[in-house]
Amino acid sequence: MTTEKLVIDIKGWLKEAADFIRSSLSSELSVSQKSGRTDLVTNIDEETQSLLIKRIKENYPDDQILAEEKGYDSLDSLSGRVWIIDPIDGTMNFVMEQENFCIMIAVFEEGIGKLGFIYDVMKDELYWGGKSLGVFLGDQQLTKPKDLGLAEGLLGMNAYMFGENIHSAREIGHASMGVRVSGCAGIELIEMLKGNHIGYISNLSPWDYAAGLVLLEEFDFTYSNIKGTALAFSGREYFLAAAPKAYQEIQARFLMNE
Ligand code: IPD
Ligand code: CA
Ligand code: CA
Ligand code: CA
Repeated sequence: MTTEKLVIDIKGWLKEAADFIRSSLSSELSVSQKSGRTDLVTNIDEETQSLLIKRIKENYPDDQILAEEKGYDSLDSLSGRVWIIDPIDGTMNFVMEQENFCIMIAVFEEGIGKLGFIYDVMKDELYWGGKSLGVFLGDQQLTKPKDLGLAEGLLGMNAYMFGENIHSAREIGHASMGVRVSGCAGIELIEMLKGNHIGYISNLSPWDYAAGLVLLEEFDFTYSNIKGTALAFSGREYFLAAAPKAYQEIQARFLMNE
């Protein structure tokens, strides 16, 4: 199986999924609560995931799938080829703004990230790339952002962590040039790839970070659980990704305040 074929397939499926999501915007959504009133899922999250899973199963029937909705949200191991999918990242934005949400797909092989795709549906911007391939916006290759320190750049953050000062998020934010909150992990990771933000601190599940990690690695960003240990790829955990200099400074501040 060539990487080229995977890339062509995934780009085609993303287009199909995005057309489906855009066409749904004129109909009434069916919205339900998951863990509470600010944790929503819609029929379109579920149907988009079903569409992507159908395509994977038709084309790559032996592969494993980890995806946010409908019974695909855990795996025993990352062995073999694994697809990690967030059908709509930023569901609250999707419901309330009808923009600022992404589709994310990652392909891992034996636990190693090979391909990552973050598609901003309403902007029609696809950020994608892969191990040793580089990072692209559409057909255009992006250049690696500068390695800036914490005081030199904007920091993306989860609003709740900032508000409640979880893991010193507020102090760390104040030491940066400014905190930005988008409500969509994919958009925060895109801002890092573009060189607009130096880092992102959040509380994430594997489908929120898998695609982004493949792309961040290509640009030598550093990432881990906020405590500096490896991400588990199971369940939610406090997440830190940043330019290497900023990462060191954030870790030092985090340890100083714990
Ligand atoms: C959420 C968004 C949000 C982040 C949450 C995620 P969802 O994803 O990315 O920005 O703060 O932790 O769960 O549920 O909209 O796919
Ligand atoms: Ca969700
Ligand atoms: Ca998500
Ligand atoms: Ca989602």
